[in-house]
Amino acid sequence: MALCLVAALCVGASHAHASRPPAAAIATAHPLATAAGKDILSAGGNAFDAAVAVSAALAVVEPYSSGLGGGGFWLLHVAASGRDVMVDGRERAPLAATADMYLDADGEFVPARSLNGPLAAGIPGAPAALAHIAERYGRLPLAASLVPAIELARDGFEIDPVYTRLARWRRDAIAASPAAAAQFLAGDAVPAPGTRLRQPELATTLLHLARDGHDGFYGGEVARLLVAGVRAGGGIWRLRDLAQYRVVERAPISARFEAPTGRWRLVSAPPPSSGGVALVQMLHMLSGFDVAALAPADRAHLLIETMRRAYRDRAEFLGDPDYVDVPVARLTDPRYAAGLMRNFRMDRATPSPPPEAVRAEGADTTHFSILDTDGNRVAATLSINYPFGSGFVPPGTGVLLNDEMDDFAARPGVPNAYGLIGGDANAIAPGKRMLSSMSPTFIESDAEVVILGTPGGSRIITMVLEGLLAATGLDPTAGGGARDWVAAGRFHHQYLPDEVVTEPDALSPAVRRSLERRGHRLSTAGRPYGNMQLVRWRRAQRQVEAASDPRGIGAATVIEAAPAATVSNHRRQPQTQPLRTTP
Ligand code: GLY
Repeated sequence: MALCLVAALCVGASHAHASRPPAAAIATAHPLATAAGKDILSAGGNAFDAAVAVSAALAVVEPYSSGLGGGGFWLLHVAASGRDVMVDGRERAPLAATADMYLDADGEFVPARSLNGPLAAGIPGAPAALAHIAERYGRLPLAASLVPAIELARDGFEIDPVYTRLARWRRDAIAASPAAAAQFLAGDAVPAPGTRLRQPELATTLLHLARDGHDGFYGGEVARLLVAGVRAGGGIWRLRDLAQYRVVERAPISARFEAPTGRWRLVSAPPPSSGGVALVQMLHMLSGFDVAALAPADRAHLLIETMRRAYRDRAEFLGDPDYVDVPVARLTDPRYAAGLMRNFRMDRATPSPPPEAVRAEGADTTHFSILDTDGNRVAATLSINYPFGSGFVPPGTGVLLNDEMDDFAARPGVPNAYGLIGGDANAIAPGKRMLSSMSPTFIESDAEVVILGTPGGSRIITMVLEGLLAATGLDPTAGGGARDWVAAGRFHHQYLPDEVVTEPDALSPAVRRSLERRGHRLSTAGRPYGNMQLVRWRRAQRQVEAASDPRGIGAATVIEAAPAATVSNHRRQPQTQPLRTTP
């Protein structure tokens, strides 16, 4: 007892002078984006200015993942007020969109129409979000934070092997758009890694945004070129689609839970993301189990069963809250989760009903995490959906458009490119935001703050759950440091198809056999998936860590504000106890 009291007093005392991080940190999917964020912090910017710089730089150097022609969710923590808020810069369906726009004359879904070319593109939200974040939360003018991206677009950068691999995969879609082919291909060929890529038209569009803010993209010359290009290519945008676009500030989803490492609070993305709701549902479903103490096969089985149930609800209930009544309170109630688990059996998988759905590798989207020395935080997940989005660039803009319209349910029960099904809640309607899996997330206890997220299509939410379990000690096999958590093996279930997709080495042969005996069908992903970017602030130890997923080419940096902090990778010794959650 005495020991406990001393520990409590010590922790309390160290918090008192550790309420500000000793260092800033940035983890992004590309070294040039990390450098852009670092430059802006050095120039006196805060985490929000750095987030603008990183988002814009990623739009230039990772055109296969995100961009001005796409959207995303920026989860912010404002240290001065303690407020968490999500800037929803998700794309919207054009006002001329119709529920059946991707069906043929026989009512059959034609996937190519919602994936390739300008008909697949929602109205972008990223430029509006950057202008909004700079104006509302930044310390520097938008124009200052856009400088690194403008220089990267104008002067060029050497493309990486991921670019070449993904451009090869999307070559036909890119080649169908002359402006995209001129920007991203070398003649007919995909450029080799190391080739210098200059994007002067994108630099000009960024300059318009820098000079005129929101209206520099959604009005004037840029808007005119965007709409003219989309319509000439067979799309349905009008000038008023762009003029009407606004970001929405939304209250995040939050919940408290207990882990061997203390009492934690989860803060994550609300609808139109399905991430926060699904994460809270899964935590509630795990509640009452001594998750950390379970045998590995039992823990994996339990996780798979919670994933299955959360994704079933995703398909039925989740959509744009401005258009449909998403029953968030009910879905995130612990009693509802208990009901979902009533038919759970530790010795047997609960089958998902047919129809089987297609499966896709999640190669799109990007995530970054930032902490500044005031304690401001950003977790942002951004997307243009498929690699290189729709493959379409409206001439004269340099803006690669998304194919986020595929995230709608084009027909109830018919899977999208990620094998996800949906119902009326996620049906297409004019101006509606399509449902997303992007899950930028904070978890925090008295002792720690962790900022995390990842790309990966439908698998984003389960990767964030796995990262969260690792970071809180609920998965004691994952190791004790940020680098261990982003590297840990992954597995995923999404209700349909009824199979567990695993990374090659994520589960031991014994665990795989045990799961198969319980009735699970296992399949191995073609390649490792995800690209988690994580920042950790250990308040009591006055340490900051940052880690970029070794599966990607990203870079994490800790920028010391005071004498050097050491990065610890020691393994935790978790105590065991049942997981408890509260709304
Ligand atoms: N386009 C991927 C997502 O929003 O979930």
